This record gives sequence, structure tokens and C-alpha cells, in this order.
Amino acid sequence: MFQGKSFLKEIDFSSAQLEYLIDFAIHLKDLKKRGIPHEYLKGQNICLLFEKNSTRTRAAFTVATNDLGAAPEFLGANDVHLNAKESVEDTAKVLGSMFDGIEFRGFSQEVAEDLAKYAGVPVWNGLTDDWHPTQMIADYMTLKEEFGKLAGLKLVYCGDGRNNVANSLLVTGAILGVNVTVAAPESLFPEPALIDLAKGYAEKSGATIEVTEDVDAAVVDADALYTDVWVSMGEEDKFEERINLLKKYQINKELTDKIEKEYIFLHCLPAFHDATTSYAKEIAEKFGMAEMEVTDEVFRSQQARQFQQAENRMHSIKAIMAATNGNLFIPEIK
Ligand code: CP
Ligand code: NVA
Repeated sequence: MFQGKSFLKEIDFSSAQLEYLIDFAIHLKDLKKRGIPHEYLKGQNICLLFEKNSTRTRAAFTVATNDLGAAPEFLGANDVHLNAKESVEDTAKVLGSMFDGIEFRGFSQEVAEDLAKYAGVPVWNGLTDDWHPTQMIADYMTLKEEFGKLAGLKLVYCGDGRNNVANSLLVTGAILGVNVTVAAPESLFPEPALIDLAKGYAEKSGATIEVTEDVDAAVVDADALYTDVWVSMGEEDKFEERINLLKKYQINKELTDKIEKEYIFLHCLPAFHDATTSYAKEIAEKFGMAEMEVTDEVFRSQQARQFQQAENRMHSIKAIMAATNGNLFIPEIK
């Protein structure tokens, strides 16, 4: 059932299938650490198509491709004719005739879906404005590594409740039986249709889905606190508005002191936790804030797992590529 399939959004997969990918990623991590080869894509050519910037996703796909015995080729926004001189359909047909699989990171989910429709090879969504599905396998893998299970855990996401990462966390948690709370100002609550969708999955899995403005109450029994940037790629004109809306939702010591359990901190990265880069300095000076969604103190605390999470991007992307395009036997999973 995985063979030849694209990985475009989480809701295309069942709970058992997502858990399979998480467990497979944990297995591949172990093989990598022990130096055991796993060239499930031997001889393939893999296209890495990026309309937006990336550190982790690009690095993870590149290393995963190499480890799987295939050859990666990076095509950036300024390298190709996609959606400018050439339609998505035509580009997809050409890339699909040469490559064995395509990673796509960009703005529109529709472009990702159209690439998959016309390429004739698996397309893996490396982030769109709507979803960040490969990130989810790494995130829930990290939770499973830390807690040894997923069902029944409580993950509290604080911040922009409408972005790709929030969307993906909500539905993936609901499918997997993880209780997800989104703590955000009402104007940044997830779209009502998405909340309904997540609640539908939660009914089946036994998870609880909560959306609230009361961040202090939300975190008390959290197993994991998660945040993402307040301003996503493509929204750079929204800093002032978002800072005003989200200040209250910053993950800082005062907030984490309210947690009554052993918890971990997660962040998909990149994070705005200090003002050491020229970009961050400029923003910090302009808006008088050097730390945004998380303070440096929490980011560097004992509970922080964001770099484990980042490493897991590579193992989990490898699992997704191998399961959908690899020469290996996977039992039928409904
Ligand atoms: N988390 C994530 O997708 O990071 P990049 O933008 O660096 O790929
Ligand atoms: N929400 C962020 C995620 C980055 C990995 C963005 O889209 O910029």
C-alpha cells in the first residue's frame, strides 16, 4: 500500500500506517548508528524541488537519499521554470520521466498535489502553506523515543494556530491518539473545518482535541510543549501584528513553571530565541523583542529536544522515501 504512493498530507494515511513510518524511522536510525547499510533506493535519482528556503528538510532529504543509495539533485526556485514559463503539469511530466521520486517544498498545496498527479512517481511534501507532513513523522517519532508510546500523551502547541505546523500537529495527533491542545489567540485559532476534521479522527482514536486562549491552564498537564515561529515563510510583513497577538503565548520560564509533569520542549526550527543573526537583530531592534516564540532559557533547558527532533527529520524522511519508493517488503497495513 505504500509502494508508489506520494506523501502529500497526513490525512491520506491511517493511524497504523503513520505508526509504521515512525517505527521504521526508529529502526533506520538504529541501522545508521550501527553503520549497517540500507540502500533501499539503490540506483535511483531523486529531485529536490524547493520554492522556499530550507536547512533541515533539504539536508535531511540529501543525506537520506545518499544513505539509501540514490543520487539527489537540488532544483531551487530560480533554477527552474515551474509555474512561470512552464505549467506545473508539464514540469511534473518532465521531472517524472527522469527522476524516480520528487520532493517539493513550496507555497501551494495544490502544486504539490498536481506534481503528484502528473509526475507518475512519488512526490513527498517538504512543506507547503497548509501542511508539513514529513515534519510530523520526526516529531511524533521524537515523542515515541522519549515516552515509549504515543496514545494518551498530551501535546500543547502554543502560538500561531493557523500555520502549516499547527495544522499538521493537530490532525496527526488526532489520528495517532495523542491529545493535542492548541493555545492561541482566537483570531489565530485553527480553521473551524480543520478542528472538525481533527475531532472526527480523535473520536476514532480516543484522543482529545482542544483549542483555547487559556495557555496557562493548557500547559499544566502537558507531556510536550511545542511552538513554531510567529511569522512563517511568505508572511514577513506580519511581524508587528503577530508579536502583539502572540506575546502572551511565548514559551518562557514563567509558563513552564506551571507544568506539573516531566515534560519536553519541541520546536520544528528555525527558532527565534535570541537575536544573534543579522536578520534577528534587525527584527529585534525594530520591534523591541529579542526572543519571540521561545526564550533562550527554555530553548537551552534540560527539557529541550529540538535538535533530536531535527536529526530525526533525516531518519523519518528516509523511512518515508524507502516505504514509498524502496525495494523492500512491507506487509499490508490498513
Ligand atoms: N523544520 C524545517 O522544515 O526546517 P527547514 O525550514 O530548515 O527545512
Ligand atoms: N511555519 C514555518 C515552519 C518552518 C519549518 C514556516 O512555514 O515558515
